[in-house]
Amino acid sequence: MRVILLGGPGAGKGTQASFMCRHYRIPQISTGDMLRAAVNAGTGMGRRVKQVMDSGLLVSDDIIITLVKDRLERPDCQRGYLFDGFPRTVPQACALRDRAIVVDAVVELRVEDAEIVHRISGRRVHPESGRTYHIEFNPPTTPGKDDVTGEELIQRDDDREATVRKRLEVYHDQTEPLIAFYSDWSHSGDEIAPKYVCVDGKNAVGRIRDDILAALG
Ligand code: AP5
Repeated sequence: MRVILLGGPGAGKGTQASFMCRHYRIPQISTGDMLRAAVNAGTGMGRRVKQVMDSGLLVSDDIIITLVKDRLERPDCQRGYLFDGFPRTVPQACALRDRAIVVDAVVELRVEDAEIVHRISGRRVHPESGRTYHIEFNPPTTPGKDDVTGEELIQRDDDREATVRKRLEVYHDQTEPLIAFYSDWSHSGDEIAPKYVCVDGKNAVGRIRDDILAALG
């Protein structure tokens, strides 16, 4: 299974990605997690992208495409992969297509902006693994602690409301065009076009998981 999860900030991509990756036994390729790891490690690239991420803007296509290309060379991608938060611009999607990197399905999680702002304000993450919780909708077993390691959960630097609103603006402007890109391609009759699936992301976490698995088979 080679799949793209598409959706706005806080639409639930990371949450669903962890279910899907366990189910299909494929690695989660989250460009956001990879960039945050570089920031935390203090690499040259991490220092360059931190300010861009904290302001809610997109990191340059060149950096992202190199990051993904290198990640796909690792052996765990032989069985398939799940892209979470990538591609995010039409040039990124074209880079995948032009390099003949196969994608079987694109799953869009559709959620309104108001719901997204509410969700992100309650999000808590385990920085090492990228595991995501919500204080109300998807709480950890022990408040403030990661279910697997018991370590402290944190709030992300770019989860302040003003930054979330900026990220939504960037999503509508630069990422939403991918909906037409992939759904038009899917309906074009091209044999290698990925299947396009749109799931109502407002439902409960378990219901969305079931909808995605049913649609993908
Ligand atoms: P990234 O980390 O990819 O952030 P994002 O796309 O904004 O997505 P999020 O991680 O915020 O949300 P999510 O959809 O994974 O939702 P989650 O499952 O956590 O990117 C961060 C930054 O990196 C970007 O702004 C950019 O600067 C840069 N970047 C990354 N990729 C890039 C690229 N390709 N090109 C350029 N720049 C790039 O859920 C959110 C909350 O809601 C959680 O608390 C969760 O528990 C809760 N929740 C989930 N599902 C439900 C539900 N069904 N009901 C109720 N609550 C729910």
